Amino acid sequence: MMQGKNIAIGITGGIAAYKACDLVSRLKQMGANVKVAMTQAATEFVTPLTLQSLSGNPVVTGMFDRPAQWEIEHIAMAKWADLFVVAPTTANLIGKLAAGIADDFLSTTLLATRAPIYLAPAMNTQMYTHPVVQANMQKLRELGVQFIEPVTGRLACGDVGPGKMADVDVILTTLENAFERVQDYLGRRVLITAGPTREAIDPVRYLSNHSSGKMGYALARAAVRRGAAVTLISGPVALEPPAGLEKLIRVESADEMYRAVIDHYQEQDFVIMAAAVADYKPKTLSGQKIKKTAEPFVIEFVKNIDILAELGKSKMQQKLIGFAAETQNLEEYARAKLLQKNLDLIVANDLTQEGAGFGVDTNIVKLIDRYGKIEDVPLMSKSDLGDFLLDKIKQL
Ligand code: PMT
Repeated sequence: MMQGKNIAIGITGGIAAYKACDLVSRLKQMGANVKVAMTQAATEFVTPLTLQSLSGNPVVTGMFDRPAQWEIEHIAMAKWADLFVVAPTTANLIGKLAAGIADDFLSTTLLATRAPIYLAPAMNTQMYTHPVVQANMQKLRELGVQFIEPVTGRLACGDVGPGKMADVDVILTTLENAFERVQDYLGRRVLITAGPTREAIDPVRYLSNHSSGKMGYALARAAVRRGAAVTLISGPVALEPPAGLEKLIRVESADEMYRAVIDHYQEQDFVIMAAAVADYKPKTLSGQKIKKTAEPFVIEFVKNIDILAELGKSKMQQKLIGFAAETQNLEEYARAKLLQKNLDLIVANDLTQEGAGFGVDTNIVKLIDRYGKIEDVPLMSKSDLGDFLLDKIKQL
């Protein structure tokens, strides 16, 4: 699987840099072409000569290594790479990439490449859990960068906690999976809905829910990366849309979402409804701001159209994937939705579990298919879950 693949390895300054030697050596043994770029700090931990011998290619350590060529060199490496891995990745590199800073060979090349980027962070626990580092990582995830999460263990400084670089075996498996998945959705059309809907009460108020759009956007990002033509229909969220979408349609209400979905339904191969669509809307929309008067103040609601149920009635080649967000009887309610809406798969999240559901960067779900098969999917980032679900969905 690695045979003939061009893999660029970035190494930054951390004690785990010694593991990069093993990574490079094993990739070579697997038949990959490997080029290495090191930061100055990385050269304090391992020598460029070691990496040059292991990779069989010159190692770049600075923008001005070869004055006549440097400008070409970083673009050349950026274009050459089928995949870019930085192991170990320091908080500094994460911060620079998140801010678009390109002040050395590695950061410049990472900005210039359009190859998938995988970062394997390694740092002290206090640094890793610092809100700034976590926010930078989240920003990068939203932009499509993949993280090979560090593990909990004894760190070089003696502390015990998360921040230890993932094992080389784990990094290699992640890269193999990445190649296996690369472009496996090429030629497929995928419609994804994400985020909440807003049901207007009057010109200043609405009824909505806590969906952040993270789950749907993660799915859209993964599907784009894997070659699908993705139409993302999004309720109001504060997220950067993934690059490379075929279409992004922003909507507010369930009715608007319904119309956008129906307009694009026919040509799709897969429809994944991750949006949290409001079940009800106010019976009447007040043209003017409603004034504060006596209590109780009563608003009458009517049912919104059930988008998925409508799609289920006119299903042709499309595979329909729904989500179920529940606070009780997860399996029972999810299974009922699967049948009522004529779905091929339902992804059920239990909103009472920590790390699952609205707003958070992770999820814990149960998959239920038409034949009653149930699969428990443990806690993972929404980004990883996006890939995991696409692996399942392509088998439907
Ligand atoms: O956005 P995040 O903060 O990342 O959170 C993710 C999530 C919790 C929103 C997501 O994982 C999720 O569960 N989305 C579905 C939420 C929901 O509306 O579930 P439901 O059980 O009410 O609806 C079942 C299915 O029918 C859903 O696929 C929904 O999109 C669809 N539906 C619901 C109502 C409606 N009128 N039309 C629909 O199509």
